[in-house]
Amino acid sequence: QFFLEDDRFLEGKKVLVTAGPTREAVDPVRYFTNHSSGKMGFAIAEQAASMGAEVTLIAGPVNLETPPDVERIDVSSAHEMYEAVIKRSAESDIIVKAAAVADYRPKTVYGQKLKKQNEEWSVEMERTIDILKTLGKRKPSGQVLIGFAAESERVEEFALGKLEKKNLDMVCANNITQEGAGFSVDSNILTLYKKDGSKIELPLQSKKDVAIKILHDAVKMLKEKTV
Ligand code: CTP
Ligand code: CA
Repeated sequence: QFFLEDDRFLEGKKVLVTAGPTREAVDPVRYFTNHSSGKMGFAIAEQAASMGAEVTLIAGPVNLETPPDVERIDVSSAHEMYEAVIKRSAESDIIVKAAAVADYRPKTVYGQKLKKQNEEWSVEMERTIDILKTLGKRKPSGQVLIGFAAESERVEEFALGKLEKKNLDMVCANNITQEGAGFSVDSNILTLYKKDGSKIELPLQSKKDVAIKILHDAVKMLKEKTV
């Protein structure tokens, strides 16, 4: 098998990975967030570094150790993640956006802790910036851009929609209702959809093995772009 993890396929390449959830504050003690352990993104960062890449990992709030030889930047909100990513996007050869970014944030962020008052409470929310879509719009010709799509239904249709709308080279889709593909677990079940129309099914396996396969495809796509 040619998927040898110690092969330094990515020597001299810059890889940018995002991982984990974001937190959108409403006051100093409360926030909105998504389920995400960060494990998939951390596994990708770790494997990319072991393949010789110069890796920057932009992480939302997670409980994970920084992988060896990885530069880690911690962020909290979607906006902070956006700024950290945009600053480094142009120089990156491969970008993998595994983060579960909040789609909405509270319109008003209160400086003081809100006191409970009425029986009901509503919070007005506004859209956050779509980081991946922004990257797709300004993608340099030699860059490989990879996104994720976590779906609970119509997985292929929604994943292909994201591939197209965000100008991605590949989207890694999972059905979150499948056992073994959930958040916080060490395994995943993914289908990779590539821009060229090909589709790769990755049956239940460790996030480490998934990471290796995603990166091998990323290298292939990178080579295709530079010939
Ligand atoms: N993403 C992003 N910035 C956002 C929202 C999503 O960069 N504000 C990225 C995620 O990191 C992921 C991809 O877009 O790589 C798809 O995220 P997902 O939540 O599955 O799709 P959305 O485009 O947000 O659409 P929806 O949540 O409505 O399915
Ligand atoms: Ca979303």
